[in-house]
Amino acid sequence: MKWNFENKIAIITGGASGIGKQIAKDMVESGASVAIFDLDATQGEKTLQELQGLTENKVRFFQGSVADKEFVDSAVSEVFKEMGEVDFLINCAGILRDFMIHRFDEKKWDLTLEVNLKGVAVVSQAVVTQWISISKAKAAEKGEKYLPVLENPPRVIVNIASMAADGNMGQMAYSASKAGVVGMTLTMAKELNRYNIRAHALKPTLIETPIIGDLLQKNDGKFRNMYESKIPFGIGKTKYVSDPVCFLCSEGGYFMNGCIIPINGGKLDGL
Ligand SMILES: NC(=O)c1ccc[n+]([C@@H]2O[C@H](COP(=O)([O-])OP(=O)(O)OC[C@H]3O[C@@H](n4cnc5c(N)ncnc54)[C@H](O)[C@@H]3O)[C@@H](O)[C@H]2O)c1
Repeated sequence: MKWNFENKIAIITGGASGIGKQIAKDMVESGASVAIFDLDATQGEKTLQELQGLTENKVRFFQGSVADKEFVDSAVSEVFKEMGEVDFLINCAGILRDFMIHRFDEKKWDLTLEVNLKGVAVVSQAVVTQWISISKAKAAEKGEKYLPVLENPPRVIVNIASMAADGNMGQMAYSASKAGVVGMTLTMAKELNRYNIRAHALKPTLIETPIIGDLLQKNDGKFRNMYESKIPFGIGKTKYVSDPVCFLCSEGGYFMNGCIIPINGGKLDGL
């Protein structure tokens, strides 16, 4: 699906692989300039080359962790200075470290919360701070404290949470991190309304990407069959997440804020 993102600029975390890469590709093909923030240097460079081969638009890759505030603040201010005012922030970087409560693993817990929850907060604060200071500078030129809402350009944050936010066997840390993302998204939506900034979270079910490792190959493919039969519309493809993200960023999503949207493949009882 093609969208009209001419002259739009997006920051996509986790954009080197999987769902984030698909979003980056769809946005670039629809006219946007894209800055990818990702920890994985090799995959990031590879994705950068692929995207640059598709388009004349600007595509940049910034290597670092979304949980590293110093890296994030500096990369975000470089994007605003060199690429222009960002329109969309897609928080997609994430990791999976599974364990059950009675096998609590403090290192896995800390890392999961650090990347999946703190990472979303750190990148969002950096981008939102830029947006608010642009808005306040324009208001000050008019001798006002705030601009009227609709004099700010419409801006969108989409956070990739998970169906695991509703609880999932073996995903103690992951589900806590994603439930946190849902709560944080609703808070952002309420706080940022006055700046014409929308915040949404998507909750995908199982999507076939590198994050799930060899899950679908296990047991001679029996796991694949099990998931195919558990999810009415089958195992998810990255497109099924990217299209709703693009819709929320498009003019069609203009009147929506604070939406928590299940991407459930027809499965209505959790993961
Ligand atoms: N695949 C699924 O079944 C599924 C389901 C629900 C939600 N999600 C969520 O979707 C998002 C994207 O996952 P994916 O499935 O595309 O997996 P993926 O592994 O293909 O992509 C995740 C990306 O995040 C990057 N990343 C990891 N830690 C980082 C850090 N500290 N800083 C910056 N980048 C970092 C990785 O290098 C990778 O490029 C994640 O937040 C994941 O939790 C995935």
